[in-house]
Amino acid sequence: MALGKASQLAIHGGPKAFAAMHGKQKPKIGVDEFMALAQRFGFPETTLQQIRGLISDDQLGRGPTLSRFATAHPSPGAGEVFERVAREIFGVRYAIGVSSGTGALHSAFVAAGVGPGTEVIVPAIGFFATAAAVIAARGVPVFCDVAESLHIDPRKIEAKITPRTVAIAPTCVMGGVPDLEPILAVARRHNLKVVEDCAQSPGAKYHGRPVGTWGDLGCFSISAYKIVGGGEGGLVLTNDERLFERAYQVAESGGLWRPNRFARPRYAGELFWGTNYRMSDVEAAVDVVQLRKLPALVETYNANRRTIVSRLKTYREITPRKLNDPQGGVGYNIRFFPQTVELGREIAVALNAEGIGCGQFLWPAECGVRGKDAPPDWHLSRDMAPLVAQAGGAAACPFCCSTYRDRGGHVEYHAGDCPVAEDLFDRNIMIWLDPCYSQEDCLAIAAGMNKVFSAYCTEAADAAPWC
Ligand SMILES: Cc1ncc(COP(=O)(O)O)c(C=O)c1O
Repeated sequence: MALGKASQLAIHGGPKAFAAMHGKQKPKIGVDEFMALAQRFGFPETTLQQIRGLISDDQLGRGPTLSRFATAHPSPGAGEVFERVAREIFGVRYAIGVSSGTGALHSAFVAAGVGPGTEVIVPAIGFFATAAAVIAARGVPVFCDVAESLHIDPRKIEAKITPRTVAIAPTCVMGGVPDLEPILAVARRHNLKVVEDCAQSPGAKYHGRPVGTWGDLGCFSISAYKIVGGGEGGLVLTNDERLFERAYQVAESGGLWRPNRFARPRYAGELFWGTNYRMSDVEAAVDVVQLRKLPALVETYNANRRTIVSRLKTYREITPRKLNDPQGGVGYNIRFFPQTVELGREIAVALNAEGIGCGQFLWPAECGVRGKDAPPDWHLSRDMAPLVAQAGGAAACPFCCSTYRDRGGHVEYHAGDCPVAEDLFDRNIMIWLDPCYSQEDCLAIAAGMNKVFSAYCTEAADAAPWC
């Protein structure tokens, strides 16, 4: 019996069973979500109402996807633009936007060959995340003492190298730059990779070239606490294609980064386990704008810092922090070491009373004298409690697992291991600088610093100069 037209299959020319949707399409992420973002910017309620009055879900169709690899996304996605801008600003071949600085470091360490049974030399001053990311990669961090610049002391690295060492991780400290040439020379002599942690000095240069581009891989945090950043984000840079692909495989283990996600491995070791450190498109959209500000911001910071520092007198009891590249850092602070912790405290309290905000490392002066009653600080190896205790970790890996022990590995962390770092850290005083300072503000700060130093210290033309 012949079928009536209505019951004929659509593939045989019959009418479609579901020719069009009658329900009104709504974006999955629409105006309410957009307004939730706008609220995070702190606009007053009247402004928010005005914005809401101007926009409607009807304008959005299916709406945005806000995810990195979604095909419906307007092309190119913010993540790609972020990586392109990063490549342009830093002058590198490869950039990967990730979800945090810690994720960037973990990806970079695995890419560099860190794994069970290996060690990475990290500085005693920096931040907990550098050593923690080595452990996340199942390697063992070995702390190296610092020089007067607060950066890893290149002269002390060689003594820390063992047959298990695979990488050195020089960390930029608060706008400064490590002395990279001698560090790279040691690395080359011993065939080690260099993973730069530049989270605290984005936009800084060493001998004219951006930090993060000297080593094999460079890592940055783009979090809200850094000089440019949105909420939580990170960045990995490299010029080496294989390192790029390995780092990307950690950060994007689904292989979405590959030209053909489902293709067989193009070479042995291309695909391995990983995790998801993908940067969200919302974060990337903000970070594109932020990153573009970086060069001008660094110049402003440095101009302000120069105006202040050029007016400072020198004092017998004050040693300014040594800078490995006085022109190349990011001048968002002025740091110095009074002769004693107690003198530092008095100076910090007096400077704060003058209206010049300062403290010991990150802590305000009221928090107590470092090394005595101040809270521990995870920028110093001695205070990195979970690490010092070698706490947690599946099967106590990396510290106690046989892969490490069988290679002769054994590490302990004790107070006093890195005496220069511990002494400088406890005595250091930092004045934060604001890029919005006017010339008048800078002159007032310089005068205030001289006023306080002159009250507590002895002026001496031949004392250590400011740089
Ligand atoms: C030197 C250093 N490395 C890594 C990180 C970690 O970055 P994130 O907080 O984005 O994971 C920080 C953050 O403060 C840092 O200062």
